[in-house]
Amino acid sequence: MGVLPDNFLWGGAISANQSEGAWDADGKGASFADVCTAGGAGEARRIEPRFPPGARYPSREGVDFYRRYREDIALAAELGFKVFRLSIAWTRIFPTGFEDEPNEAGLRFYDGVFSELERFGIEPLVTISHYEMPYAMVERCNGWYGREAIDCYLRYCEALFRRYSGRVRLWLTFNEINAGTMPSGAPLSLGCVRGYTGPLLSAPTEAAVRYQALHHQFVAAAEAVQLARELCPGAKLGCMNAFSALYPRTCRPEDMLSAQREMRYTNWFCSDVQLRGEYPAYMRRRFEELGVKLDVRPGDAEALRRGVHDFYTCSYYTSGCAAASGGEGAAGNLAASLKNPYLEASGWGWQIDPQGLRWSLNAIYDRYRVPVMVVENGLGALDEPSADGRIHDPYRIDYLRRHIEQLKEAARDGVEVTGYTPWGWIDLVSASTGELAKRYGLVYVDRRDDGSGSFERRRKDSFYWYARVIASNGEEL
Ligand code: BG6
Repeated sequence: MGVLPDNFLWGGAISANQSEGAWDADGKGASFADVCTAGGAGEARRIEPRFPPGARYPSREGVDFYRRYREDIALAAELGFKVFRLSIAWTRIFPTGFEDEPNEAGLRFYDGVFSELERFGIEPLVTISHYEMPYAMVERCNGWYGREAIDCYLRYCEALFRRYSGRVRLWLTFNEINAGTMPSGAPLSLGCVRGYTGPLLSAPTEAAVRYQALHHQFVAAAEAVQLARELCPGAKLGCMNAFSALYPRTCRPEDMLSAQREMRYTNWFCSDVQLRGEYPAYMRRRFEELGVKLDVRPGDAEALRRGVHDFYTCSYYTSGCAAASGGEGAAGNLAASLKNPYLEASGWGWQIDPQGLRWSLNAIYDRYRVPVMVVENGLGALDEPSADGRIHDPYRIDYLRRHIEQLKEAARDGVEVTGYTPWGWIDLVSASTGELAKRYGLVYVDRRDDGSGSFERRRKDSFYWYARVIASNGEEL
């Protein structure tokens, strides 16, 4: 018997707004991602709902998963996937978020996706909301800052749970919910998660706004957990966090305290609420210091208590350092932190730390004692087809191999780690920069940032390598 259990969920992850395209097909409304322009190295994405000439909107075409999902799921089956993480585009089901009835064509699209997965015996893992809030909600209720968003979300969840009960067992309530704790970040992680617009667009750095929006998401997610228990017998609901281990930059007591504080505020706060059913004690002081007074309504605390999630999931790309003062900055997927002199970084400046994954999984399991899945991990890199038309990506194989090794070490340490779905197993649009050039895939998609390319799919070297990893249940790395 190997290190990982026989029922370990190997797979891969994508989101709707980064892969589907067909942004206005079959009654779909515009999502926040659809109004985000392309950025690039050194150029931030912008929120531009007025379509100025020359602006490019990469989420609108994605990588054409909407039309090619059968081909893509066949590739996933060839890889040996046991699980396929995808998100549902809220705007396919409720184009503005405010309709009374769901859009049948949107529901039918995911019926087709789930049927195809069932054909190959692949289990879906569905993120209900992955940076895809309807843009109409952004305009009408300031995204999650407006309390009405809770009702819209629950109407959407109810439609999903009723339709897909018995077909989908594993659900994640929000992608990277802790993005909302961070005052910095790209428009997609700030805007799409929170959905600010108008006067609030410049205010996501205001703690009062961020934490109020987050409170609404906590209540919405907790109510969704209860709804799923009623409508979807056997369903399991997971929380999802962007986890980034933060080491003290030195052993100075001040740096130790700083790392502890940062770990709580960015990595632990949301999962403490969602897995323990109440606000953690340390946030009282945090709110006092920031002058945050949450509008908490009667029934909210009870909802949080009753809506505890069943399992923990996270993305893991990088780690960072924290210090009371000083230190050179380092980039990260949601938040910048400090540079760790012992680590190398990707082309986009994200520090690479496979052992940090082992450390993180142990810390998570020590804290919660619930099953843990790594639902995103991977290397964004420039891949160029070589003269023979093949894509040789040894750097990606190396990145994934070293992380899987550490995941196995964590399993040996006793962590109940139940699955691994590398991010962007098929090339897709980058969330932070909107680039296609930043590729994560094991499958190459012929599509470039200037809009050229046929969308043809090609297996990279990492594809064949990962298929062997899955076939050997992680023994052959
Ligand atoms: C995570 C998101 O933060 O990181 C994904 O959940 C995102 O949507 C991924 O794509 C990688 O980030 P990026 O910016 O390189 O696409």
